[in-house]
Amino acid sequence: MGSSILTASFRRSGENNALHCEGVPLARIAETVGTPVFVYSSAEIRLQYEKLKGALEGIPHRIHYSVKANSSLGVLAVLRELGAGVDIVSGGELHRALLAGFTGDDVVFSGVGKTAPEIREALRAGVRFFNVESEGELRAIDALASEDGLIAPVAIRVNPEVDVDTPHEYTRTGGRGHKFGIPYDEAEAVALLATELANVRLVGLDMHVGSQLTRMEPYERGVARLLDLVELLPSRARADLRWLDLGGGLAVPYDVDDDKVDLGAFAAVARRAARSSGLELVIEPGRFLVANAGVLVTRVLYRKRSGGKDYVIADAGMTELLRPSHYHAHHGVERVEEPHRAEIETADVVDVVGPVCESGDFLALDRKLASVEPGDLLAILSAGAYAYVMASNYNSRQKPPEVLVDGNRFGVVTDRETRDDLTRLERTVPAWRE
Ligand code: LLP
Repeated sequence: MGSSILTASFRRSGENNALHCEGVPLARIAETVGTPVFVYSSAEIRLQYEKLKGALEGIPHRIHYSVKANSSLGVLAVLRELGAGVDIVSGGELHRALLAGFTGDDVVFSGVGKTAPEIREALRAGVRFFNVESEGELRAIDALASEDGLIAPVAIRVNPEVDVDTPHEYTRTGGRGHKFGIPYDEAEAVALLATELANVRLVGLDMHVGSQLTRMEPYERGVARLLDLVELLPSRARADLRWLDLGGGLAVPYDVDDDKVDLGAFAAVARRAARSSGLELVIEPGRFLVANAGVLVTRVLYRKRSGGKDYVIADAGMTELLRPSHYHAHHGVERVEEPHRAEIETADVVDVVGPVCESGDFLALDRKLASVEPGDLLAILSAGAYAYVMASNYNSRQKPPEVLVDGNRFGVVTDRETRDDLTRLERTVPAWRE
């Protein structure tokens, strides 16, 4: 049935034990901004960043936050202030990173399908390096750099071909036959090619094996294979090597029973990798930094019973948070106002579903929730990562606002979409008929 995890930045306090984000009652945000609404805690992001930084102390490294997890400019600015770099996978993410104040040198450009315009933009922005995922991409970068008279710094993303046991097969990326990275037995040849092409410079090697990693053994096997490759390269190919990018994937708990990542064990792997390669590490965490720094606040619209099942129908659903529907992911659900003891004792088992016209539109299944009534507010937990960024306009729903909390203050960093936003790019007749 699962339960929920409240981090230090989301606590119950005050007379009626209402749920707060730092010093701000979630109910106040909902009243001011409306629902559904994403609420992020700056303090929680800082805490996670400092935790990771602390674990990696003494190891030459830089944390490049994986923008895909949460690309809100407000969140990016918090991470920039902390000194993070970014890991991006599109021209759109580059645009956001630059707007948030990152410079080209703060940026690592990953992704399996970079287009020519995206590569050009990144070259001109002076990104720290490209993580190259195929020979074709390497040649494209070389040709585009040559047009601009530039030398492109590249790292080879190697597929170390190890099996990781993430909760869902869609979040495994470093297994044999996956679309990501260069197959292990071709990686050396592509790295050598990088040293021969005139307009690229081989500055690193890279891997990313998956997301929600808790066990370090498969990860360490991947790292070992990457290190083997460094050893294999002839010294002329190693001349400009500076970076060893170990990817992201550090897990966070979504449920009390979830395995926790052992940061000490992770740091030990990182330390050994840095020592034996003599290279500086790049780490690309996304979820670890932001997942538990966010909640989705939604209001209950209706309750109904159907076929012996109790449904709580909320004003948010798969359009705001796709993860339960797409990965069968567990997200904790908390009432924003604390229920009274008697209500807790008589809690019902319910499905919390959204208003979208899909049977797969749910936020939580078979959850014990104390007397939830229409009008009540619910907080869907762990909604800081892969939530807003995966939101859609299905059913012509407007994307919700994003609110950033810092101490006792809160502010909207993304407005709720308007009706005009929904149709802004459309016309009723194609231009040729006018
Ligand atoms: N680096 C690369 C190259 C990646 O592909 C990813 C995530 C990361 C870093 C960051 O991984 P993280 O530290 O956040 O685990 N939508 C899925 C997650 C997809 C992750 C894709 N790649 C979800 O909601 O669970």
